[in-house]
Parts: sequence; C-alpha cells; structure tokens
Amino acid sequence: MYLIPMLLLSFSMAIVICHVLWQFAKPHHPNLPPLIFHWIPVFGSALQYGTDPIQFFSKCREKHGNVFTFILFGRRMTVALGAKGNHFVTGGKLAEVSAEAAYTDLTTPVFGKDVVFDVPNHVLMEQKRFVKFGLSVENFRAYVGLIEKEVRDYLATDPSFSAYRSTKREEWGSFDVLKSLQELTIFTASRTLQGEEVRSSLNKSFAGLYNDLDGGFTPLNLLFPNLPLPSNRRRDQAQKAMSEFYIRILAERKSTNASHDMLSALATQSYKDGTPLTDQQIAHIMIALLMAGQHTSSATASWALLHLAHRPDVAQALFDEQTKYFSSPDGSLRPITYDELRELPLLDSIIRETLRLHPPIHSIMRKVVKNMTVPGSLTSPSRDINYVIPKGDFILSSPALSQIDPTIWKDSLTWDPYRWSDPEGVASQASKSYDDATGEKIDYGFGIISKGTESPYQPFGAGRHRCIGEQFAYLQLGVILVTMVRHLEMKLDGPFPSTNFHTLIPMPGSPRVISYKRRAPFVA
Ligand code: HEM
Repeated sequence: MYLIPMLLLSFSMAIVICHVLWQFAKPHHPNLPPLIFHWIPVFGSALQYGTDPIQFFSKCREKHGNVFTFILFGRRMTVALGAKGNHFVTGGKLAEVSAEAAYTDLTTPVFGKDVVFDVPNHVLMEQKRFVKFGLSVENFRAYVGLIEKEVRDYLATDPSFSAYRSTKREEWGSFDVLKSLQELTIFTASRTLQGEEVRSSLNKSFAGLYNDLDGGFTPLNLLFPNLPLPSNRRRDQAQKAMSEFYIRILAERKSTNASHDMLSALATQSYKDGTPLTDQQIAHIMIALLMAGQHTSSATASWALLHLAHRPDVAQALFDEQTKYFSSPDGSLRPITYDELRELPLLDSIIRETLRLHPPIHSIMRKVVKNMTVPGSLTSPSRDINYVIPKGDFILSSPALSQIDPTIWKDSLTWDPYRWSDPEGVASQASKSYDDATGEKIDYGFGIISKGTESPYQPFGAGRHRCIGEQFAYLQLGVILVTMVRHLEMKLDGPFPSTNFHTLIPMPGSPRVISYKRRAPFVA
C-alpha cells in the first residue's frame, strides 16, 4: 500500500540529489552570470524570491555581486542591481529586450486584447500618448475638489470613522489602513479619471466585477496565466463584462456632453495613420488604467499614513504646512488648488520618501529577445570577458534595492522625508534623480520625458516604459493625505507593520490598524 508513495519519494529525492550534484559539478561558463544555488529543479528560488525579494537579492549580492541568475519556475532570471542594473534593464534597446513578452501573460487576460502589452511596442507608445492627453493639467485642476470631497464623504459615512463623527471631543477610533485606502483609492480614481458612471456603479455591479478581475492579477498569473482555476474563470467573465460596461457608457455618451475624464479624452484619439481607437480598445485601456493605479496608489497611501501615524511630529509638521498655506481669516482651512498642491515641499517629500522605502513595483522585468552583453561586467580581466545574457532569458532590475543602498542614502532604512531638503540626506548621484530638470530628455512617442534610466531612484520606472500615471498618482496621494491630516490626529498603538510580498504589489501586513481622533479645533 505504501509502495507507490515510497517509490515517488525515492524518485523525487534522487532528482534533487542529482540536481544538487549537477550544480556543483557542471563547469561554469565564464560568459554566464553565477547561478544561485537551489534545491529543487524548475521551482528554483521561487520561495525565497516570493517571500522577500529584497532580502533574497541582498544575500545573493553579498555572495555574487550585482549580477546573478536565479531560477523561477523554469525561467532563468538575471538580476542586475544598482543604478547600472537599473539602466541595463530600463534602458534596454527594443531590439534586445521586450516588456510585452515579460508581462503579457499577466496583463492581457485582465486588460483585454489589443492594448498595452498585447500590441507591438510602437502601438503601446501611441496608446500612452492618448492617455497622456487625458491626464491634462486642466483635468487635474478639476480633480482636486472631487478627490477632497470623496475623502470627506468617506469620513462622514464609513463605519470605521464613527469616532470622527462623535460629538465627544477626545474619542479615539481605529481603522484598517489598507482596507480604507483601497476603498478611497477606487472611489477617488473613479470619481475623476474613470468617470461618473463608474463611480455611481461602484456600490453595485462594478465592485463585484472589479474584485473578480483583481483575483486574476496575482504573482501566480504572471507565471501561469491560464491554470484551470475558478479564479481565472471569474477573471475572464469579469473582463468581458467590464469591457461591455465601458462600451455601453461610450454609446450612451455619444449623445451627451463630454466630461473631464479619461473616457471622453480617449474617444477623441486616433493613431498616426488616422485610424481611431475602437470602443473595445478604449474599454481595455480604461481597465488597464484602473488596474495600474489601484494597488500602486493604495499601497503607497497606506504606507504614508502608517509612517505619519508612527511619526506624529511629521504629521503635525504636515498639518502646519497646511495652515501656513491655506489658513482663512476665520481660522478654517480653505480648499486646496492643484497649482498650490504642487508647491508644498513637505507633502512632496513625504510622498517621495514613502516611494523610496516602499516602491510598489519591486521588480522590473524584460524578456531578452537577442543575446545581450552586460557592459562592464568583466569576469576575467585578463581575457576581457563580459556576461552575455542569452535570448529567451529574463532580466530584472530592482529599484527597491538601489533606493535603500547605504552608499547612496544616509540612514537608508529610516523613513525621513526631510532628507529630500537636506543636501547630505541624498547623495549627489540620487539627488540628480530622473525628474531632474537638467537630466537628458527623450521622446519615446508619448511626449518628452527625462531619460533617467541610470538613476538609483526609480519608483515610476524609467525609459520607454516609464509610468504615465505619476502626476495623477501624486495628485491623488497628495489630496488624500492632506485631507486625512486636516481632519485626523493619528497614532500607531502596535508595532510598525512588516511587508507582505505575497501579493503582486507589496502591502503592509496585518495588523495595520491606525488609531485616530478628530483633530481639534475641527476644520471644515
Ligand atoms: C508603468 C509605478 C500609478 C499607469 C509603471 C512602471 C512603474 C510604475 C515602476 C514601469 C514598469 C516597467 O518598466 O516594467 C507606479 C507607481 C504608481 C503608479 C509607483 C503610484 C504610486 C499609476 C497610475 C496609472 C499608471 C495611477 C494610470 C493612471 C501605468 C501604465 C504603465 C505603468 C499604463 C505601463 C507603461 C509601459 O509599459 O510603457 N508604473 N505607477 N500607473 N504605469 Fe504606473
């Protein structure tokens, strides 16, 4: 009865032993980066990478330096660390690397066909240009008040904020920061970018569709897109239903006035050859924007609020910044405008610093489509040999690591927003960050941006795949944070949460509860 399991066990152990011996015995090719030791073939270092990629990369770097290869479910992933590694990956030439081939298995089933990574790179660049058209300053000006109102409505109605509404002055309440910020992020993004119809459907059918779609946006789907799982079936049904939902809105809108949102902006756009975007492409771009902004912004806002609760002195300074710029003669705080929001140094530093320590995208990946030399990776000075990454492998950079490099950042693991105004807090290499006005400028087809591929600070990526949602994210995060700080005093009763890396975007792990009371004097 036990024979079959015993045989299977012995067979598995024999495979593991052979695999381990093979790793030690096989002569190492001098052109290939060192391969990280692993016990189980195919599975490779998936457990270490999936549990804590930062710790895994740091340990590998101690042993092997900045360039090494690990196995992830049969894929050969070559990691290139540091600012040079960032440049190697984000500055990779189109003829050598492909983001589409690295991401399409994850994104296409969720976003839908014919957009983002389901199209050739030059089409994506055009689609990014269309989106940028909808991310105009004029639209942003209209969004500030809408976001502020959403936050205030949330404080006025959400059950976690009953203590805020209490008539007793010193009453403390608490909220799960991730849950609240996930709700606030989708409410504010839908009220602004996504449009009125999405916002009003959020309490109904759209929320269910969103959850089902989100269930297909996991690390597992990046590696195995089409496992016969119930969650993938729900993902596919939700993708179809959500796409039809946007197409219906487009049809209804054709007879009404355009609004200040992305759907209206996309409906006016055509490719360079004159072909207009189809309704289905517009619907799929809308889904892509919803998914691209939701977890990135909600995680960042959650981390920022946790740090503010942990450092009440910084929260008070942020409140003081508000009173300095927005005090009315009657003592209340007047509403914020978009142009003023961009000029608030502490708010800006808080967002920058939070993205430095907690970048939502810790690994930037590309598939190698043509053998690629790693410049300056001299493995044998006498023979002048550089590493060559073979076609079919993947390359990966991790700004999450260069952003905490102690040789660049003073007290690199400490959350200190004041470093951004301290000439010693950020070494010259990093302060010349990618949005530096003096940096090299380039147009990949979606407008002029700073190239910035060699910066150690890259929370929004760099190069042709650089994020297009950065300004919107700063606006959304900024208004959410200052509105919360205007209304609440916060503290952390427990320890600062650790990072949960099991989700696609690292999130604060449980418990992540912030205690709050209404700020006195109450400001409207
Ligand atoms: C790409 C970060 C918010 C839309 C990226 C990339 C990063 C990033 C690192 C580059 C990935 C790569 O090179 O492989 C962030 C962060 C955000 C944020 C930290 C918020 C804190 C948003 C928002 C939107 C958005 C709000 C949409 C409104 C996109 C799109 C791409 C992208 C469409 C793909 C660009 C391409 O591949 O060419 N983002 N993002 N992101 N982001 Fe964001």
